[in-house]
Amino acid sequence: MLTYKVFAVAGAGNIGVFIVEELLKLQAVGKIDALVVLTRSTSSPTIARLALLSPAPIFEEVDYTNPTSITQALSKHHVDAVISTLGHAGGALDAQPGLAEAARKAGVRLFVPSEFGNPTEHLTAGMLGQKGTFQGRLREMGLPSAMFYTGPFADLIFEGYLEWDVKQGKVEAGADGNVHVSYTARRDVARYLAYVLTTLPAKEIEWRTFRIEGDRKTFNQIFADYEERTGRKLNPKYRSKEELEQTLKENPKHFSSMLQYSWISHGGTVGEPDQLDNKLYADWNPIKVVDILTEI
Ligand SMILES: NC(=O)c1ccc[n+]([C@@H]2O[C@H](COP(=O)([O-])OP(=O)(O)OC[C@H]3O[C@@H](n4cnc5c(N)ncnc54)[C@H](OP(=O)(O)O)[C@@H]3O)[C@@H](O)[C@H]2O)c1
Repeated sequence: MLTYKVFAVAGAGNIGVFIVEELLKLQAVGKIDALVVLTRSTSSPTIARLALLSPAPIFEEVDYTNPTSITQALSKHHVDAVISTLGHAGGALDAQPGLAEAARKAGVRLFVPSEFGNPTEHLTAGMLGQKGTFQGRLREMGLPSAMFYTGPFADLIFEGYLEWDVKQGKVEAGADGNVHVSYTARRDVARYLAYVLTTLPAKEIEWRTFRIEGDRKTFNQIFADYEERTGRKLNPKYRSKEELEQTLKENPKHFSSMLQYSWISHGGTVGEPDQLDNKLYADWNPIKVVDILTEI
């Protein structure tokens, strides 16, 4: 059974650090041989923290504007699989085509593009269009890839991107709050990805899309679950489609409005329940939204 033994994670940030940690746990028990972290600079606090782990990753400084530096770093360690966790900040996602081309030249057998959200395969425009377009590029390159759709990160979205203040009862929903959204916490995304990439044979991973969710809830269900669990009352603000449109007209980058608008317009799940790949990891047991909100 052909599997992957040497991994590289490009860009250890919001999601990347969790993936690095989970893969290192598998290295500790002999399921993988080595993990390389590609970074622009080894002098960051994140890299310093990861260097203290045991086993620790191998760090390789790369220049994303110089793909040869990436090919050399990957070839040196005989990397089998590259996981891109480059983000939107600083235009890092622009570096993905060069990263993939460098990986192909280095003989990498699997490329996981930086998805980790809702499906993008049919998108060509907007912030997420870049991800959808890049999937086509990977197919043209013939570089086997695997996509992970996870929905919003349950441990980051509410008090982060959605700007809630749960303890103060300040929560928001788009429209009538009845749209279903998939959520997965970063630790669970990383555990799942590390598990399937080290367990399934390569032929069951290549060109595959994994659709996973730790929880699937409407905002009204989330509010009810929270109130029932804590006995505390929330004060939801419902923002109509017209109101969200008005906000986005005034400020097209207003992130919480972008998210709510997208969910009420196109849905917020990773797919239909029968399309989910949660079952591939029988012991996954991801955390539920209500458990996260009551920990805040
Ligand atoms: N579902 C969700 O709720 C959710 C939330 C956040 C992100 N995401 C998705 O997850 C993926 C990764 O996003 P992220 O937020 O984890 O990424 P991030 O933290 O913004 O960036 C990851 C790493 O990219 C590297 N990088 C390379 N070039 C860079 C540049 N020019 N500017 C800034 N950083 C650069 C940095 O590592 P070095 O400094 O070591 O080079 C950085 O730590 C994206 O596809 C994003 O859309 C999903």
